[in-house]
Amino acid sequence: MSHELRTPLNAIIGFSDLLRSGHFGTLEAKQREYLDNIHDSGSHLLELINDILDVSKVEAGRYDLHEETVDPLEVIAGCIALVAVRAGGHRVTVDSAHAGPHVHLHADRRALKQVTLNLLSNAVKFNKAGGSVTVHTRVDRDGSFLITVTDTGIGISAEARPRIFAPFQQADPTLSRRFEGTGLGLWICKALVEMHGGSIEIESEEQVGTTVTTRWPAQRVIGGVATAAD
Ligand SMILES: Nc1ncnc2c1ncn2[C@@H]1O[C@H](COP(=O)(O)OP(=O)(O)OP(=O)(O)O)[C@@H](O)[C@H]1O
Ligand SMILES: [Mg+2]
Repeated sequence: MSHELRTPLNAIIGFSDLLRSGHFGTLEAKQREYLDNIHDSGSHLLELINDILDVSKVEAGRYDLHEETVDPLEVIAGCIALVAVRAGGHRVTVDSAHAGPHVHLHADRRALKQVTLNLLSNAVKFNKAGGSVTVHTRVDRDGSFLITVTDTGIGISAEARPRIFAPFQQADPTLSRRFEGTGLGLWICKALVEMHGGSIEIESEEQVGTTVTTRWPAQRVIGGVATAAD
């Protein structure tokens, strides 16, 4: 099914991009505006379809992990680069800090990237102008690897916290017009981290900020500490 959904969307995204490049003639302002709109809507729909396909794969037990040795700091740097433009638009700064030995993870690179990117995009999206996002990484005392994303955003009420990991759930549905999204990001993060034998935790204070920590188990940590695998 994924092919049937992605192919026409890729045509919409690709051809609108080609047309707006001006390669086939100069564009009027309105034409350019509508092409931008077609392109952005197509990209948005593709992201949504990819999320829904991931959810259905996970639920069907068909999400196969392609495990390899991954440098988490490299993945995080790539994710920060991807959210940088949006963060800049919201006047939010994004930084990272690593403490202790530089280790690698035996993990699925795409999953690690998706988890980190979902958390970073939440931290940027639910932030305030002038706010910040920091990604801290370190090896914990038990040898597990921790990736912590901290933001200075709107926070999550204690009442909403239990349901934010459920699919299609947003903490405050009345805000959903202001913060676009489908409510699938955290559900996918939790599923992917747990498939690696890890866990995800959230701490938050309304109007102060949110900290989300993913813990990748010690057996997946390569190098750096005595408890490492291999
Ligand atoms: N860093 C955060 N700060 C404040 N609220 C958050 C944060 N992260 C998640 N939330 C709340 O949890 C809800 C669920 O998050 P999730 O990432 O699953 O969905 P989404 O971001 O709304 O949509 P999607 O990720 O599918 O685009 C959000 O709608 C928001 O209400
Ligand atoms: Mg999200």
